[in-house]
Amino acid sequence: AMIWAVLPAAGRGQRFGGDTPKQYLHAAGKPLIEHALSALLRHPRVAGAMVALSADDTSWPGWTQLHGKPVLRCVGGGERADSVLAALRALPAELDGDTLVLVHDAARPNLRGEDIERLILAAEAGDQGAILGAPLRDTLKRAGEGRILATEPRGGLWRAFTPQAFRRAALTAALADAAAAGVVVTDEASAMERAGFRPRLVEGREDNLKVTTPADLALAQFLLQSDRE
Ligand code: C5P
Repeated sequence: AMIWAVLPAAGRGQRFGGDTPKQYLHAAGKPLIEHALSALLRHPRVAGAMVALSADDTSWPGWTQLHGKPVLRCVGGGERADSVLAALRALPAELDGDTLVLVHDAARPNLRGEDIERLILAAEAGDQGAILGAPLRDTLKRAGEGRILATEPRGGLWRAFTPQAFRRAALTAALADAAAAGVVVTDEASAMERAGFRPRLVEGREDNLKVTTPADLALAQFLLQSDRE
């Protein structure tokens, strides 16, 4: 069955600073969003991508195809989840509700084909969906006024990455429900959890980082460059 990629790219990257939304910052000669899109579209099972852009985006390069596959665009929303919902609703009408959708941050340029492959296999092995992530490695402190209040047990805690893989209709319903209830979800899995699903966790590569700060950009650039050598 066909798989589509959805890229929320309507953020303004406020935390990064500067005027350029972070998905358009360059690393290894290309904007982050191009690395992210290419990684997904290079996978043989991914048939196309829907990108959610902000209404006042002036940086979008206007691709209609990459790697011979369609790249479609739509207008995103105020929160990441609004952008993902808009993109799901803008997908080609002929895709059925069971189509697997891979939602991936435009600001994660270093996604590898092997992680996409393992995620797809896990998602297709059941009907609860799956996400990439990794167990926490640092010790966790609860903070108050700049001091440690407590050390929290980290056993069983994971960080959530993207892509996150769900069936189109189920994810659309879960995100619409969360929005209607006024709950802001920061990833797709949390909307699915609210709807009663228990998505699988697939341990992914730690270098699939989300660029949030200038230090992240430098690291992403280093990783993308060392890949080519
Ligand atoms: O800001 P954050 O790093 O969480 O953004 C993750 C992804 O979600 C980015 O690719 C960003 O462009 C996207 N986003 C969006 N619509 C928003 C906010 C963020 O598509 N309103």
